[in-house]
Amino acid sequence: MANYEYIHEIKKFGRENKIPILLDDTLEYITEILKKIKPKRILEIGTAIGYSAICFSQYLAEDGRIDTIEIESLRVQEALENIEKVEVTDKIRVLEGDALEILPYLHEEYDVVFIDAAKGKYIEFFEQALRLCKTGGYIIADNVLYKGMVQSDYNKHKQRTAVNKLRNFIDIVLENKDLKSELIDIGDGLTVSKKL
Ligand SMILES: C[S@@+](CC[C@H](N)C(=O)[O-])C[C@H]1O[C@@H](n2cnc3c(N)ncnc32)[C@H](O)[C@@H]1O
Repeated sequence: MANYEYIHEIKKFGRENKIPILLDDTLEYITEILKKIKPKRILEIGTAIGYSAICFSQYLAEDGRIDTIEIESLRVQEALENIEKVEVTDKIRVLEGDALEILPYLHEEYDVVFIDAAKGKYIEFFEQALRLCKTGGYIIADNVLYKGMVQSDYNKHKQRTAVNKLRNFIDIVLENKDLKSELIDIGDGLTVSKKL
């Protein structure tokens, strides 16, 4: 049996150590989608300490599973410890490495693909997400408004490249005719796309 009471401790550790884990309102929004569709398979790009994956695992269908990818070994270690503590090792598989290298080797179909890693690579992640998401499934990307910078006209900051790439990403998502997409101004900005 999973031990979800540790979630608060994991969240506290994340916030105190400035690890960019999901914001509460964003988590709430995604949770509503998960409750509605009861996913069997979720793919997450960007595990960090496993907080979001552990939260999501509560809403999986019976025998459901999450694959989550993380590039930093310290984070992988922390995520594995947390997953063990919550006793959800049978529900969450952590894949260590650069998602851009791992994704082409995945060939399953996922009900939900959640993109929450390097902002400069969202377009590449999205191409793989499109391939891996099943028809009727969801592709969700977090932090697409990047602290308000994506929708402001000020563009002389050091994050300019990431901001421009995110603007491009949003256009690509919203214009894709195979998806029904929304840009939601919640948390740090979320795109939610249903694959038609
Ligand atoms: C925003 S955090 C993820 C937070 C997590 N989803 C949560 O809410 O609990 C982003 C994570 O993506 C990882 N990351 C960045 N680029 C990556 C890549 N190319 N492949 C895999 N992981 C990556 C970072 O090391 C970081 O831990």
